[in-house]
Amino acid sequence: MLNSSRIDVSAPLRELAALRRLPVGTCVDMAALAGDPEYAAVLAREFDMVVAENAFKPHSVWMGPREYDFSQTNRLAEFASRHHMTLRGHTLLWHQSVPKWLRTAPVAQIPGLVREYIHAIVGRYRGVITVWDVVNEALTDGEASGMRTESFWYKTLGPDYVRLAFTWAHEADPDVRLFYNDYEAEDMGAKSNAVFGLVKELKSLGVPIHGVGLQAHLINGWRASEDNRTNVRRIAGLGLEWQVTEADIRMQLEGNPPSDEQVEVQAAGYRDLMELCLTEPGCTGFVTWGFSDAHSWIPGFRKGWGAALPFDIHFRPKPAYLALSDALRGC
Ligand code: G3I
Repeated sequence: MLNSSRIDVSAPLRELAALRRLPVGTCVDMAALAGDPEYAAVLAREFDMVVAENAFKPHSVWMGPREYDFSQTNRLAEFASRHHMTLRGHTLLWHQSVPKWLRTAPVAQIPGLVREYIHAIVGRYRGVITVWDVVNEALTDGEASGMRTESFWYKTLGPDYVRLAFTWAHEADPDVRLFYNDYEAEDMGAKSNAVFGLVKELKSLGVPIHGVGLQAHLINGWRASEDNRTNVRRIAGLGLEWQVTEADIRMQLEGNPPSDEQVEVQAAGYRDLMELCLTEPGCTGFVTWGFSDAHSWIPGFRKGWGAALPFDIHFRPKPAYLALSDALRGC
Protein backbone atom coordinates (compact mmCIF):
# COMPACT_ATOMS: atom_id res chain seq x y z
CA MET A 1 0.00 0.00 0.00
CA LEU A 2 2.53 2.62 1.08
CA ASN A 3 5.40 3.11 -1.27
CA SER A 4 7.84 4.08 1.47
CA SER A 5 10.91 2.64 -0.28
CA ARG A 6 11.25 5.84 -2.34
CA ILE A 7 11.13 8.02 0.75
CA ASP A 8 14.50 9.30 1.81
CA VAL A 9 14.97 9.72 5.54
CA SER A 10 18.67 10.47 5.24
CA ALA A 11 17.93 14.15 5.82
CA PRO A 12 15.55 14.13 8.78
CA LEU A 13 12.88 16.81 9.06
CA ARG A 14 14.71 18.53 11.89
CA GLU A 15 17.83 19.03 9.75
CA LEU A 16 15.86 20.42 6.83
CA ALA A 17 13.78 22.61 9.12
CA ALA A 18 16.86 23.98 10.86
CA LEU A 19 18.06 25.26 7.48
CA ARG A 20 14.77 27.19 7.26
CA ARG A 21 15.08 28.28 10.92
CA LEU A 22 11.78 26.63 11.71
CA PRO A 23 11.39 24.41 14.79
CA VAL A 24 9.59 21.22 13.77
CA GLY A 25 7.92 19.33 16.56
CA THR A 26 5.46 16.73 17.69
CA CYS A 27 3.53 15.77 20.79
CA VAL A 28 4.82 12.94 22.93
CA ASP A 29 2.91 10.04 24.41
CA MET A 30 4.92 9.36 27.58
CA ALA A 31 3.92 5.69 27.75
CA ALA A 32 5.18 5.10 24.20
CA LEU A 33 8.37 6.98 24.96
CA ALA A 34 9.02 4.77 27.98
CA GLY A 35 8.01 1.49 26.36
CA ASP A 36 8.97 1.60 22.70
CA PRO A 37 12.59 2.19 21.65
CA GLU A 38 11.61 2.62 17.99
CA TYR A 39 9.18 5.39 18.97
CA ALA A 40 11.94 7.18 20.88
CA ALA A 41 14.46 6.72 18.05
CA VAL A 42 12.20 8.17 15.33
CA LEU A 43 11.17 11.01 17.64
CA ALA A 44 14.79 11.97 18.35
CA ARG A 45 15.82 11.59 14.71
CA GLU A 46 13.07 13.69 13.14
CA PHE A 47 12.04 16.47 15.52
CA ASP A 48 13.76 19.29 17.37
CA MET A 49 10.78 20.41 19.46
CA VAL A 50 8.51 18.36 21.72
CA VAL A 51 5.30 18.98 23.61
CA ALA A 52 3.67 16.51 25.98
CA GLU A 53 0.40 15.09 24.68
CA ASN A 54 -0.94 14.97 28.24
CA ALA A 55 1.87 15.09 30.82
CA PHE A 56 2.00 18.86 31.30
CA LYS A 57 -1.76 19.30 31.71
CA PRO A 58 -2.96 20.39 35.18
CA HIS A 59 -4.76 17.11 35.89
CA SER A 60 -1.46 15.25 35.30
CA VAL A 61 0.71 17.49 37.47
CA TRP A 62 -1.36 19.30 40.08
CA MET A 63 -2.13 16.84 42.85
CA GLY A 64 -3.25 19.23 45.59
CA PRO A 65 -2.55 22.68 47.02
CA ARG A 66 1.22 23.17 46.63
CA GLU A 67 1.54 19.52 45.67
CA TYR A 68 2.92 18.77 42.22
CA ASP A 69 4.02 15.62 40.44
CA PHE A 70 6.78 16.61 38.04
CA SER A 71 8.04 13.07 37.39
CA GLN A 72 6.69 12.77 33.82
CA THR A 73 7.36 16.39 32.92
CA ASN A 74 10.95 16.04 34.10
CA ARG A 75 11.36 12.90 31.99
CA LEU A 76 10.28 14.76 28.90
CA ALA A 77 12.50 17.75 29.72
CA GLU A 78 15.48 15.40 30.14
CA PHE A 79 14.74 13.65 26.84
CA ALA A 80 14.47 17.01 25.09
CA SER A 81 17.71 18.24 26.55
CA ARG A 82 19.54 15.00 25.68
CA HIS A 83 18.43 15.28 22.06
CA HIS A 84 18.89 19.04 21.70
CA MET A 85 15.19 19.71 21.36
CA THR A 86 13.20 22.67 22.62
CA LEU A 87 10.16 22.13 24.80
CA ARG A 88 6.65 23.59 24.30
CA GLY A 89 4.44 23.79 27.37
CA HIS A 90 0.86 22.57 26.89
CA THR A 91 -1.19 23.80 28.68
CA LEU A 92 -1.83 25.93 31.78
CA LEU A 93 -5.61 26.39 31.69
CA TRP A 94 -7.99 24.20 29.68
CA HIS A 95 -11.61 23.48 30.58
CA GLN A 96 -11.00 19.77 29.91
CA SER A 97 -8.17 19.52 32.41
CA VAL A 98 -9.34 20.46 35.86
CA PRO A 99 -7.86 18.46 38.76
CA LYS A 100 -10.66 16.63 40.58
CA TRP A 101 -9.67 17.90 44.02
CA LEU A 102 -9.80 21.52 42.83
CA ARG A 103 -13.48 21.24 41.94
CA THR A 104 -14.31 20.96 45.63
CA ALA A 105 -11.95 23.68 46.87
CA PRO A 106 -13.59 26.84 48.32
CA VAL A 107 -14.20 29.20 45.36
CA ALA A 108 -12.66 32.16 47.18
CA GLN A 109 -9.33 30.29 47.35
CA ILE A 110 -9.18 29.31 43.67
CA PRO A 111 -7.58 32.46 42.18
CA GLY A 112 -4.75 32.25 44.72
CA LEU A 113 -4.27 28.53 44.13
CA VAL A 114 -4.19 28.93 40.35
CA ARG A 115 -1.69 31.77 40.54
CA GLU A 116 0.49 29.62 42.80
CA TYR A 117 0.22 26.68 40.39
CA ILE A 118 1.12 28.75 37.34
CA HIS A 119 4.06 30.24 39.21
CA ALA A 120 5.21 26.77 40.27
CA ILE A 121 5.14 25.06 36.87
CA VAL A 122 6.20 28.00 34.71
CA GLY A 123 8.90 28.85 37.25
CA ARG A 124 10.16 25.28 37.40
CA TYR A 125 10.71 25.13 33.63
CA ARG A 126 11.93 28.70 33.31
CA GLY A 127 14.63 28.82 30.64
CA VAL A 128 13.70 25.28 29.52
CA ILE A 129 10.25 25.75 28.05
CA THR A 130 10.40 28.31 25.26
CA VAL A 131 6.67 28.66 24.55
CA TRP A 132 3.62 28.03 26.76
CA ASP A 133 0.06 27.49 25.60
CA VAL A 134 -1.26 29.58 28.46
CA VAL A 135 -4.95 29.17 27.73
CA ASN A 136 -6.36 26.43 25.52
CA GLU A 137 -9.74 26.44 23.79
CA ALA A 138 -11.44 29.19 25.82
CA LEU A 139 -13.87 29.91 22.97
CA THR A 140 -17.04 28.13 21.89
CA ASP A 141 -17.76 26.67 18.45
CA GLY A 142 -20.37 27.80 15.97
CA GLU A 143 -21.59 31.08 14.56
CA ALA A 144 -21.91 32.76 17.94
CA SER A 145 -18.38 31.89 19.06
CA GLY A 146 -17.57 33.56 22.37
CA MET A 147 -16.14 32.72 25.78
CA ARG A 148 -17.00 29.27 27.18
CA THR A 149 -18.94 30.53 30.15
CA GLU A 150 -19.42 26.96 31.40
CA SER A 151 -15.66 26.48 31.82
CA PHE A 152 -14.54 25.88 35.40
CA TRP A 153 -11.89 28.57 34.91
CA TYR A 154 -14.42 31.13 33.68
CA LYS A 155 -16.77 30.36 36.54
CA THR A 156 -14.17 30.46 39.30
CA LEU A 157 -11.65 33.05 38.07
CA GLY A 158 -14.14 35.28 36.28
CA PRO A 159 -14.58 36.61 32.73
CA ASP A 160 -11.13 38.15 32.92
CA TYR A 161 -9.37 34.84 33.49
CA VAL A 162 -7.46 34.73 30.21
CA ARG A 163 -5.78 38.03 31.01
CA LEU A 164 -5.01 36.84 34.54
CA ALA A 165 -3.42 33.60 33.33
CA PHE A 166 -1.11 35.40 30.90
CA THR A 167 -0.15 37.92 33.56
CA TRP A 168 0.66 35.18 36.10
CA ALA A 169 2.69 33.20 33.57
CA HIS A 170 4.68 36.30 32.67
CA GLU A 171 5.38 36.97 36.35
CA ALA A 172 6.89 33.50 36.64
CA ASP A 173 9.07 33.75 33.53
CA PRO A 174 9.34 37.15 31.85
CA ASP A 175 11.27 35.62 28.93
CA VAL A 176 8.96 32.77 27.93
CA ARG A 177 6.66 33.33 24.94
CA LEU A 178 3.00 33.03 25.79
CA PHE A 179 0.38 31.67 23.38
CA TYR A 180 -3.38 31.36 23.10
CA ASN A 181 -4.18 27.97 21.46
CA ASP A 182 -7.40 26.82 19.76
CA TYR A 183 -8.89 24.52 17.12
CA GLU A 184 -10.87 25.22 13.94
CA ALA A 185 -9.45 28.72 13.84
CA GLU A 186 -7.29 28.21 10.75
CA ASP A 187 -9.89 29.52 8.31
CA MET A 188 -11.76 32.82 8.20
CA GLY A 189 -15.02 32.39 10.09
CA ALA A 190 -16.83 32.89 13.38
CA LYS A 191 -14.32 30.91 15.47
CA SER A 192 -11.20 32.51 14.00
CA ASN A 193 -12.86 35.93 14.26
CA ALA A 194 -13.42 35.25 17.97
CA VAL A 195 -9.79 34.14 18.42
CA PHE A 196 -8.59 37.23 16.57
CA GLY A 197 -10.88 39.47 18.63
CA LEU A 198 -9.66 37.94 21.89
CA VAL A 199 -5.94 38.25 21.15
CA LYS A 200 -6.38 41.73 19.71
CA GLU A 201 -8.08 42.84 22.89
CA LEU A 202 -5.37 41.27 25.05
CA LYS A 203 -2.69 43.04 22.99
CA SER A 204 -4.47 46.36 23.26
CA LEU A 205 -4.68 45.96 27.05
CA GLY A 206 -0.92 45.43 27.19
CA VAL A 207 -1.25 41.80 28.29
CA PRO A 208 1.97 39.81 27.71
CA ILE A 209 0.81 37.64 24.81
CA HIS A 210 3.21 36.64 22.05
CA GLY A 211 1.38 34.28 19.78
CA VAL A 212 -1.53 32.19 18.61
CA GLY A 213 -1.50 28.41 18.28
CA LEU A 214 -3.55 27.09 15.38
CA GLN A 215 -4.12 23.44 16.17
CA ALA A 216 -4.94 22.26 12.63
CA HIS A 217 -6.80 19.02 13.35
CA LEU A 218 -7.80 18.67 9.71
CA ILE A 219 -9.84 16.31 7.56
CA ASN A 220 -8.37 14.61 4.51
CA GLY A 221 -8.98 16.70 1.43
CA TRP A 222 -8.10 19.93 3.22
CA ARG A 223 -5.99 22.28 1.11
CA ALA A 224 -4.70 25.70 2.03
CA SER A 225 -6.82 28.58 0.79
CA GLU A 226 -6.64 32.33 0.51
CA ASP A 227 -8.72 32.41 3.69
CA ASN A 228 -5.94 30.68 5.60
CA ARG A 229 -3.47 33.23 4.35
CA THR A 230 -5.72 36.16 5.25
CA ASN A 231 -6.20 34.70 8.72
CA VAL A 232 -2.52 34.23 9.56
CA ARG A 233 -1.66 37.61 8.05
CA ARG A 234 -4.11 39.39 10.33
CA ILE A 235 -2.56 37.62 13.34
CA ALA A 236 0.94 38.59 12.22
CA GLY A 237 -0.39 42.10 11.60
CA LEU A 238 -0.99 42.43 15.34
CA GLY A 239 2.71 41.79 15.89
CA LEU A 240 1.99 38.26 17.10
CA GLU A 241 3.67 34.99 16.16
CA TRP A 242 1.60 32.01 15.17
CA GLN A 243 2.42 28.31 15.17
CA VAL A 244 0.81 25.17 13.82
CA THR A 245 0.47 23.40 17.15
CA GLU A 246 -1.39 20.08 16.76
CA ALA A 247 -1.45 19.17 13.08
CA ASP A 248 -3.00 15.93 11.91
CA ILE A 249 -5.08 15.08 8.85
CA ARG A 250 -7.52 12.30 9.57
CA MET A 251 -9.17 10.06 7.03
CA GLN A 252 -12.22 7.83 7.11
CA LEU A 253 -11.11 4.20 7.27
CA GLU A 254 -14.03 2.21 8.67
CA GLY A 255 -11.61 -0.58 9.56
CA ASN A 256 -9.75 -0.62 6.22
CA PRO A 257 -6.15 0.37 5.62
CA PRO A 258 -5.79 3.74 3.90
CA SER A 259 -5.84 3.62 0.10
CA ASP A 260 -3.02 4.96 -2.07
CA GLU A 261 -5.30 7.77 -3.14
CA GLN A 262 -6.12 8.71 0.45
CA VAL A 263 -2.47 8.94 1.46
CA GLU A 264 -1.61 11.03 -1.61
CA VAL A 265 -4.46 13.44 -0.85
CA GLN A 266 -3.22 13.64 2.73
CA ALA A 267 0.31 14.40 1.54
CA ALA A 268 -0.95 17.38 -0.44
CA GLY A 269 -2.63 18.73 2.71
CA TYR A 270 0.53 18.37 4.82
CA ARG A 271 2.55 20.04 2.10
CA ASP A 272 0.15 22.99 1.94
CA LEU A 273 0.19 23.40 5.70
CA MET A 274 3.99 23.43 5.86
CA GLU A 275 4.17 25.83 2.92
CA LEU A 276 1.70 28.15 4.63
CA CYS A 277 4.04 28.26 7.59
CA LEU A 278 7.13 28.75 5.45
CA THR A 279 5.73 31.44 3.20
CA GLU A 280 3.54 33.59 5.45
CA PRO A 281 4.90 36.02 8.03
CA GLY A 282 4.94 35.16 11.72
CA CYS A 283 5.06 31.35 11.73
CA THR A 284 7.58 30.25 14.35
CA GLY A 285 6.87 26.53 14.71
CA PHE A 286 5.26 23.53 13.06
CA VAL A 287 4.04 20.78 15.39
CA THR A 288 2.15 17.58 14.59
CA TRP A 289 -0.12 15.89 17.16
CA GLY A 290 1.90 12.69 17.21
CA PHE A 291 3.98 11.31 14.36
CA SER A 292 3.05 7.64 13.96
CA ASP A 293 -0.42 6.24 13.28
CA ALA A 294 0.41 3.73 16.02
CA HIS A 295 0.03 6.50 18.62
CA SER A 296 -2.69 8.97 17.75
CA TRP A 297 -5.73 10.29 19.62
CA ILE A 298 -7.88 10.04 16.49
CA PRO A 299 -9.10 6.42 16.47
CA GLY A 300 -10.09 6.67 20.14
CA PHE A 301 -11.99 9.93 19.78
CA ARG A 302 -13.29 9.79 16.16
CA LYS A 303 -14.72 6.36 15.50
CA GLY A 304 -13.90 4.99 12.04
CA TRP A 305 -11.24 7.61 11.41
CA GLY A 306 -7.46 7.39 11.60
CA ALA A 307 -4.14 7.28 9.70
CA ALA A 308 -3.74 10.98 10.41
CA LEU A 309 0.03 11.23 10.83
CA PRO A 310 3.18 11.24 8.63
CA PHE A 311 4.45 7.78 9.73
CA ASP A 312 2.38 4.59 9.51
CA ILE A 313 1.77 2.16 12.36
CA HIS A 314 5.15 0.49 11.67
CA PHE A 315 6.99 3.84 11.77
CA ARG A 316 7.46 3.78 8.02
CA PRO A 317 7.33 7.25 6.46
CA LYS A 318 4.18 7.93 4.42
CA PRO A 319 3.83 10.26 1.44
CA ALA A 320 2.87 12.93 3.98
CA TYR A 321 6.40 12.69 5.36
CA LEU A 322 7.86 13.15 1.89
CA ALA A 323 5.56 16.12 1.34
CA LEU A 324 6.81 17.81 4.53
CA SER A 325 10.36 17.07 3.54
CA ASP A 326 9.87 18.44 0.00
CA ALA A 327 8.20 21.58 1.32
CA LEU A 328 11.15 22.17 3.65
CA ARG A 329 13.61 21.60 0.80
CA GLY A 330 11.60 24.04 -1.29
CA CYS A 331 11.01 21.54 -4.07
O1 G3I B 1 -3.92 7.34 31.21
C1 G3I B 1 -5.19 6.68 31.14
C2 G3I B 1 -5.01 5.21 31.24
O2 G3I B 1 -4.47 4.89 32.51
C3 G3I B 1 -6.36 4.52 31.03
O3 G3I B 1 -6.18 3.15 31.00
C4 G3I B 1 -6.97 4.97 29.70
C5 G3I B 1 -8.35 4.36 29.46
O4 G3I B 1 -9.18 5.24 28.76
O5 G3I B 1 -7.09 6.36 29.70
C6 G3I B 1 -5.85 7.01 29.84
O6 G3I B 1 -5.97 8.39 29.78
C7 G3I B 1 -6.35 8.96 28.54
C8 G3I B 1 -5.21 9.81 27.99
O7 G3I B 1 -5.65 10.50 26.86
C9 G3I B 1 -4.01 8.99 27.62
O8 G3I B 1 -4.31 8.11 26.57
C10 G3I B 1 -7.58 9.80 28.83
O9 G3I B 1 -8.66 8.98 29.18
C11 G3I B 1 -7.91 10.62 27.62
O10 G3I B 1 -8.94 11.55 27.97
C12 G3I B 1 -6.70 11.39 27.14
O11 G3I B 1 -7.06 12.08 25.98
C13 G3I B 1 -6.25 13.16 25.59
C14 G3I B 1 -7.12 14.40 25.42
O12 G3I B 1 -6.38 15.48 24.89
C15 G3I B 1 -7.70 14.84 26.77
O13 G3I B 1 -6.70 15.24 27.66
C16 G3I B 1 -5.57 12.82 24.26
O14 G3I B 1 -4.62 11.77 24.49
C17 G3I B 1 -4.87 14.04 23.68
O15 G3I B 1 -4.41 13.75 22.38
C18 G3I B 1 -5.85 15.21 23.61
O16 G3I B 1 -5.13 16.34 23.14
C19 G3I B 1 -5.94 17.50 22.86
C20 G3I B 1 -5.08 18.71 23.17
O17 G3I B 1 -4.59 18.66 24.51
C21 G3I B 1 -5.87 20.01 22.95
N1 G3I B 1 -6.43 20.05 21.62
C22 G3I B 1 -7.20 18.88 21.20
C23 G3I B 1 -6.36 17.60 21.40
C24 G3I B 1 -7.11 16.39 20.89
O18 G3I B 1 -8.29 16.18 21.65
